[in-house]
Amino acid sequence: MGRDFRGGRGDTRGGGRGGDRGRGAPRGRGGRGGRGGRMGGAPKAFVVPHPRLAGVFVAKGQQEALVTKNMVPGESVYNEKRISVEDKQTGEKVEYRVWNPFRSKIAAGIIGGVSDIFIKPGAKVLYLGAASGTTVSHVSDVVGSEGVVYAVEFSHRSGRDLVNMAKKRTNIVPIIADARKPLEYRMLVGMVDVVFADVAQPDQARIVGLNSQYFLKKGGHFMISIKANCIDSTNRAEVVFQHEVQRLKDEGLTPQEQLTLEPYERDHAIVIGVYNA
Ligand SMILES: C[S@@+](CC[C@H](N)C(=O)[O-])C[C@H]1O[C@@H](n2cnc3c(N)ncnc32)[C@H](O)[C@@H]1O
Repeated sequence: MGRDFRGGRGDTRGGGRGGDRGRGAPRGRGGRGGRGGRMGGAPKAFVVPHPRLAGVFVAKGQQEALVTKNMVPGESVYNEKRISVEDKQTGEKVEYRVWNPFRSKIAAGIIGGVSDIFIKPGAKVLYLGAASGTTVSHVSDVVGSEGVVYAVEFSHRSGRDLVNMAKKRTNIVPIIADARKPLEYRMLVGMVDVVFADVAQPDQARIVGLNSQYFLKKGGHFMISIKANCIDSTNRAEVVFQHEVQRLKDEGLTPQEQLTLEPYERDHAIVIGVYNA
């Protein structure tokens, strides 16, 4: 079996770094990236809802893993492990995808014990810094067919993968644009419940503020992943986080929770809060 690990304040274990390569994720009979089935043969895997977060699940078996219900059964997005379990009531097979905390800051935050991500079934989410869609795909699973994920990415190369993924996941609206220029995509994006940003840019607080101004409902929530050395490599990470929290306040955002993403990401924090402006 793969390595066993857990997050700082966490209650749920996840797959290993590069779960797409099979390390750390629970192995089923299909082998690496293959069909889920049983996790390691015995004991048989079963899946329970996450204790706090609607639309997020925990697979239990020989190892615990954070999982989301696959919107497109039979397909992996980044070669992540899939787990198929039988619904006891209907007898039908339900497929879940392992959500790797080494590949996703939201997963790292959940395992780290964040109290709420506000991304839940039916939610509308503006996701800034989508890259090729690794985490976006799990957000798409969580919000489900009643929700929407507006996924903004300015790299055309990553954007190509994002657009391809969105062909099958109809709740994703891929937007190849600069998140600093929300006016350029205002025709594509409706009002949202959550703005999530993972752009790793020094002006990301401003980027979140600007996008919240245009698209975030009053009382909606924001979540931002902060990579300290992208903001200021000369200061200690804790000091950089403090400055970023102040910048978010200056943008009319009210930070409510802060969590470091150790051991999954070094010198990263996630800050979550509400928009009152
Ligand atoms: C750390 S990666 C995001 C990883 C992704 N969130 C995930 O979990 O799979 C940061 C991404 O933000 C994108 N990015 C940076 N600045 C941006 C901007 N101003 N507008 C849109 N995307 C941006 C980069 O091209 C890069 O793909």
